Amino acid sequence: MDRQSTNIFKAPSYVRHVRLREWVAEMARLTKPARVVWCDGSQEEYDRLCDELVSAGTFLKLNEKLRPYSYLARSHPTDVARMEDRTFICSAKKDDAGPTNNWVDPGEMRGTLNHLFDGCMRGRTMYVVPFSMGPIGSHIAQVGVEISDSAYVVVNMRMMTRMGRPVVDHLGVDGAFVPCLHSVGAPLPLGQKDVPWPCNDNEKWIVHFPETREIWSFGSGYGGNALLGKKCLALRIASIMARDEGWLAEHMLILGVESPKGEKHYVSAAFPSACGKTNFAMLIPPKSYAGWKITTVGEDIAWIKPGKDGRFYAINPEAGFFGVAPGTSEATNPNAMKTLRSNVIFTNVALTPEGDVWWEGMTETPPPELIDWQGNDWTPSSGRLAAHANARFTVPAAQCPSMDPKWEDPDGVPISAFLFGGRRSSTVPLVVEAPTWEDGVYMAATLGSETTAAITGKVGVVRRDPMAMLAFCGYNIGDYFAHWLKVGKTVNRVPRIFRVNWFRRDAAGKFIWPGFSENMRVLQWIVERCEGSAEGSATALGIMPRYEDLSWSGLEKFTRDQYAELSEVEHDAWAEELHSHDELLGKLGSHLPRELETRRTLLHEKLAA
Ligand code: GTP
Ligand code: SPV
Ligand code: MN
Repeated sequence: MDRQSTNIFKAPSYVRHVRLREWVAEMARLTKPARVVWCDGSQEEYDRLCDELVSAGTFLKLNEKLRPYSYLARSHPTDVARMEDRTFICSAKKDDAGPTNNWVDPGEMRGTLNHLFDGCMRGRTMYVVPFSMGPIGSHIAQVGVEISDSAYVVVNMRMMTRMGRPVVDHLGVDGAFVPCLHSVGAPLPLGQKDVPWPCNDNEKWIVHFPETREIWSFGSGYGGNALLGKKCLALRIASIMARDEGWLAEHMLILGVESPKGEKHYVSAAFPSACGKTNFAMLIPPKSYAGWKITTVGEDIAWIKPGKDGRFYAINPEAGFFGVAPGTSEATNPNAMKTLRSNVIFTNVALTPEGDVWWEGMTETPPPELIDWQGNDWTPSSGRLAAHANARFTVPAAQCPSMDPKWEDPDGVPISAFLFGGRRSSTVPLVVEAPTWEDGVYMAATLGSETTAAITGKVGVVRRDPMAMLAFCGYNIGDYFAHWLKVGKTVNRVPRIFRVNWFRRDAAGKFIWPGFSENMRVLQWIVERCEGSAEGSATALGIMPRYEDLSWSGLEKFTRDQYAELSEVEHDAWAEELHSHDELLGKLGSHLPRELETRRTLLHEKLAA
């Protein structure tokens, strides 16, 4: 940290970028912080900020023996997840935001924001956080600079991105950056004691200006609302860049699959929030899969560009994981558990009497007593969750044992298949392959999923979540579908597209599919389809594996009847499903690509036959 810079209008001398200096000065004049600190990204700075967060009561240091260099943060109970209803795309024209985004006229929004941000950092420190999404200097990377009055945001950004002085050096005098302004929206009057998790109870705004590529976020300190490199830059703003430049910015994990024959494929999979990306990206194949290996490139975001050889290449723009804690265990995700051994920031998990962490699903039997995510005493008979359902861990990706040797390769990895998966307790079969790219785009565009605790609002409601990008596409969703159709024509080895569903339930409400490591069986079929060595049968929905087309070695207890239940296409359920497709496509008006309209008609005909 550069202490010289406490004169709030003065940037450190190493910042030679005039526009950056001016923007920071302007934002300081607007927000009126007590001091400005330019973050260099060093370990010393990180340690000092963590110490300060401990003193402030935001962080609790965990037991050094059980969970070295790790902290627990408890958020304000009203600031626990992304707020889609408070997220805005303020394009010049409403039509460019489209029917699925909240839109406010940019002029009007600037008025609102200028008023909200005026003096909003009074009494606080304004941190300047330069960061790179993607390896610094890579032709695929994008630079952002986040201004935030939250030290919690700074330490999280240091794990999630490449952050600090090397980014400023790379920017030079005139490099391009995305300005990202963030405030918790809680000015601190002189002499008043701060609260552990400052935020604004009444006003929360997560705002994007597509034309000027700016991000303004007010009122929340949590996750995607506040770590602006992630959803705001790497998805919403990047999706706009991708539209203009002919690439894809997607809510996708990237993994590598190596078969015993030594062949390696990379696949990228889009599942909505809290629907299994982290688990799938770190999958360990079942015992019967000797010689198979899964490696991780990314677990939340993929930037995918056509390469010189006519294939799509994907990079993970992030440097860390901000992953869902509940449900993570040695049984479901051993690689994540190893990643979490040290150097972790936990948010909204429970605390054990020994000073370690716990969450629902971590162990089969809960500890007899805990402190819950809100700081209250908890026992298994309390009748409430010990960890918040959207409790998360922040951790450097490099700590994950399954990271692929190429995970930081600036050229990315070649993609053989795209998967799209939702959380569907009925209707949608285990796996279906789209016969063509256009069929696949239709399948992805009409993806449905039950809502989860990753967003505020009701959980378990089925909604359309096109490409798992409903909340993350920064422009008109119809144009986004057209963009997908178009980029498919710019490569000569177009990936195959599959839809998967791990979440179908039986009449008793139990998951039919064992999931987790057993998802390897589906993945095997997928890569072998890409190689042309696996069979399937043509159905109205697409190509589906018959029971005998999947490998069952080690899972013989899973019966043909169970598989039939998992793969069933019920007439009435699909009539309802198509109705819901029609509802989404019906909103698109003149932005609905003709290819999708054709597919919709065909699907109606096939299912009626
Ligand atoms: P975001 O970080 O919100 O974008 O989500 P994500 O897609 O990375 O979600 P994550 O992998 O963390 O999954 C969240 C939840 O899904 C956890 O509670 C997991 O236990 C559960 N889950 C993951 N894979 C499976 C599976 O194969 N079957 C079942 N039944 N549950 C799963
Ligand atoms: C998601 O909600 O998809 C996340 C978590 O990955 S957050 O960063 O909070 O958006
Ligand atoms: Mn996500």
